[in-house]
Amino acid sequence: MIPPKPASRPDRVSLWRYMRLFRRDILSAQPARLYRAWMAEFRTPFFRSYLLNQPDLVAEVLKARPDDFPKSDRVGEGLRPLLGQSVFLTNGEVWKRQRRIIDPAFEGGRLRDTFPAMWAAGVQAVARLPQGRVEVEEQMSHAAADVIFRTLFSLPIENDVATRVFHEFRAYQRTQPILNAAAFLPLPRWMPRGHRAQTRTTARSIRALIRGLVADRMDQITAGTAPDDLATKIMTTADPQTGDRFTPAEMVDQVAIFFLAGHETSASALAWTLYLLATHPEWQDKVAVEAAALDAGGFGVVSKLRISRDVFREALRLYPPVPMMVRQNTCPEVFRKRAIRPGSQLVISPWHLHRHERLWDNPDGFDPARWQTENGKTCMREAYIPFSTGARVCTGAGFAMVEGPLLLSMLMRAVRVAPVAGQVPVPVAHLTVRARDGIWLDVVRRD
Ligand code: HEM
Repeated sequence: MIPPKPASRPDRVSLWRYMRLFRRDILSAQPARLYRAWMAEFRTPFFRSYLLNQPDLVAEVLKARPDDFPKSDRVGEGLRPLLGQSVFLTNGEVWKRQRRIIDPAFEGGRLRDTFPAMWAAGVQAVARLPQGRVEVEEQMSHAAADVIFRTLFSLPIENDVATRVFHEFRAYQRTQPILNAAAFLPLPRWMPRGHRAQTRTTARSIRALIRGLVADRMDQITAGTAPDDLATKIMTTADPQTGDRFTPAEMVDQVAIFFLAGHETSASALAWTLYLLATHPEWQDKVAVEAAALDAGGFGVVSKLRISRDVFREALRLYPPVPMMVRQNTCPEVFRKRAIRPGSQLVISPWHLHRHERLWDNPDGFDPARWQTENGKTCMREAYIPFSTGARVCTGAGFAMVEGPLLLSMLMRAVRVAPVAGQVPVPVAHLTVRARDGIWLDVVRRD
């Protein structure tokens, strides 16, 4: 059974039709040839954009010369009211300084320290999961938000502030659904886009809640009573070059992106993984059998969850939570013999690269065993970028690759999932790749 793939649009459509399709969903607004092309050019009356699908071009932009290809400032337009100057949106020296302070919090050794909090969130996720017909995206959002609150601020999601932030984020996503739209939409820069009043109000209330959390934490750090979690680590780390730390105001921007980037993405990935397991019961059984390793407890179990990791990896290939990324070139470039003017939008699409028909064996099929094959290994190196790659790689990549397989195994040890007849989820790209009407599964406890 081939997992759901959005219908592509016809090769040629009018600009108006394209814009309308686009507002609905950026995946189905693309033509099928992008699954075969090495590069595609989109001309609009106002700017050019290029989709890069050739591994060495992707590597050139993300790995070899990232400074020449900053993040397109169009990307952040919808997110700026919420994220301010967060590391997700900045470029140049500001961004470099932020990464110098943030990166140590996510180093390998620290992952071990966050493990007990992840485990506790997993136990709660299993306990919360109802039986019967369940919409699992919402369940996984709840679980992933819990992981973030516990690891960052040592707060379970039941905490009053955590619950409010979680609900406000959901409201934000409803008013501001399309992350990257501004980068592709053929609108000139001078056209006012504005942020809807409700988007701004929601952003303000989320930021006020976060400001309270950061202020309390600052007091605890000063008093020497702060818990040893990610927030404390980030707020007490000095920039090795300048010796200064984040001010509370700067920290608010970073916390906002950790919540957003850290729970929307993992939630999307976990929900799609559950759907893929529901439709591939043979793999579900393998994950459940392997999950017996969890009995040993402790961080050591992570390295034993190999099947779970291959399954999660395969889900990230088919449904990369961040489907597209956009950069801008600062110098003139020649790609595939085409001259690219400075200021063009360069789209790198994990969605298309991960299903490229000339690179992958069985590109649209679900096959976690592929990672042991020659083709799978080559593609993992050259055509697999769910967390991006290079200097701007996701700071949470290592964290997510512990969290995902761990929660998956904990869930599969406790329950069995089955698809609901007639309810095939349709992937659409909102802030992350989601199912248009949610992902519904039948859940039965194993005991
Ligand atoms: C399955 C889970 C996740 C996926 C697929 C994912 C994917 C990504 C991708 C593709 C980017 C690069 C975006 C771009 O360049 O336009 C990114 C950046 C980022 N992610 Fe993640 N992410 C995940 C989980 C997390 C977690 C758990 C955290 C934090 C706790 C996190 C924090 C960040 C941050 C701070 C950035 C910005 C990095 C920068 O621009 O320097 N992510 N993520």
